[in-house]
This record gives sequence, structure tokens and C-alpha cells, in this order.
Amino acid sequence: MRKLLIAANWKMYKTPAESTAFLTAFAPLVKHHDKTEIVLCPSMTSLPALVDAARSKSVSIGAQNMHWLNEGAYTGETSPTMLTAIGATHVLIGHSERRQYFNETDTTVNLKLKSALAHSLTPIVCVGEHLNERESNLTANVLKLQVSVALEGIDPAALAPLVIAYEPVWAIGTGRTATPEIAEEAHKIIRTQIAQVAGSSVAAATRILYGGSVKPDNATALCRLDDIDGALVGGASLDPASFAQIIINATH
Ligand code: PGA
Repeated sequence: MRKLLIAANWKMYKTPAESTAFLTAFAPLVKHHDKTEIVLCPSMTSLPALVDAARSKSVSIGAQNMHWLNEGAYTGETSPTMLTAIGATHVLIGHSERRQYFNETDTTVNLKLKSALAHSLTPIVCVGEHLNERESNLTANVLKLQVSVALEGIDPAALAPLVIAYEPVWAIGTGRTATPEIAEEAHKIIRTQIAQVAGSSVAAATRILYGGSVKPDNATALCRLDDIDGALVGGASLDPASFAQIIINATH
């Protein structure tokens, strides 16, 4: 059984005070939802305060990005050891905004995934096609390549914590959600590719989240599908009531 995972990607929103205020309002709304793993990914400056505030709560805290090396002359970067030192437990890798604006490639995703696993950070690796790729019938090719390169050279035995987020780029922040059928089809392609690269038991255990305009009113239809094991939520995760409602709706 794969445990449902619902993660918030706050992108470049919320100061530390706003982040902890969110948690104060949010935690009571989901305190009975222990069947769902809940992860908040704030900006780097909010991580320490949020990790502290989340200690007595069943909410985990993750980063939105990291470098793959432990230290070095890489101005502006944050290393995996810096994240684990402050108590972060999860990390987003290869979000489409990182790929689009900051030159993230499948190769750097692979380096970051190896590093996250080596540091016992739960990696949430984002994949997804652009609209022109979908319209040219290239979705399956794009997803297979992204998954294969991300997992290249990794011992399948090390992949137990792997989480993949399928985020069609055309659905992110656009209000255009993939239909449950489109999402389920893409998730099956991803799971089959994981099986190809890392074996069927890794594929069966890997949680594959859907992301892209997830809202309270579409969370139930998406998350009840067999191959959809949760959601990665951007815009609708910024408000405590809305994010809590997504979790409640996804669980039922
Ligand atoms: P969205 O973002 O929910 O605002 O579409 C999702 C994401 O970027 O992870």
C-alpha cells in the first residue's frame, strides 16, 4: 500500500512569520489526517522556523531545491547537508520552473536525486510535458526520457524513498487541470518506465503525485485513481483552509 502524500509548493511566497502563521491555522484542520503524509515546502528563509514550528505536528518540511554537493564555491546555493542540519526531510527536484528559468536539466536532476538519497532526504522528482509536446503526441517520449535519465546509475535498492510528481507544464498555475483520465494515463506511463529502469517492485512502491492546478474541488476525482498517490499543490496550498480541504477531499 502506498501512503497518500500531499505536498505544498509555496514557491517564492511567504516570509518566516507568514509561514508559521499558516501552520498555526492549518495544523488543527488536519490533525486527524494521519493516513496522509503532509509536506510543506516553503522558501529557504522560512525552513528553520517552519521545521521548529512543525516539531510537535504530523507535518513534514521540505526544500524546493538544493545543490547536489555538500559544499563549495557555488554562490546562492544550498547543500543537502545544510538542509538535513536544520531538520528538513524532503526536497523537490527538477520542478518545471527550475527547468524553465534556472537551467535545470535531466542531468542535474539525476545528480540531485543521487545526492538526496545519499543524505536520506525524501526526493520529490518533478516531470511533465509542455503543451506543444502533448499536442505533438510526444508526452510518452518526454516522460520516459525524464524518468530514465533521473534514475540513471542508481541502485534500485536505494530507490525506496523515491516520489515522482507528474506535473504537465500546461496545467501549472493556469487553472487548467489535467482530466483524471489524462493524469492516470501519464502516471501509468511513468510507473511502467520506472519498472523498466528499476524493476517492478520499485515501480509498485513509488508514489506518483499529480500536480497542476489541484484545488479542493478536483482533489477527490484525481486522488481516488489507482496510480495517483497524492498531489503537489502550488497556488491552492498558500491558504490554510484551501490546502486542508484538498487533504480532506483527497482522502475521501
Ligand atoms: P499550481 O502549481 O498548483 O499552482 O498549478 C503546482 C506546482 O507548480 O507544483
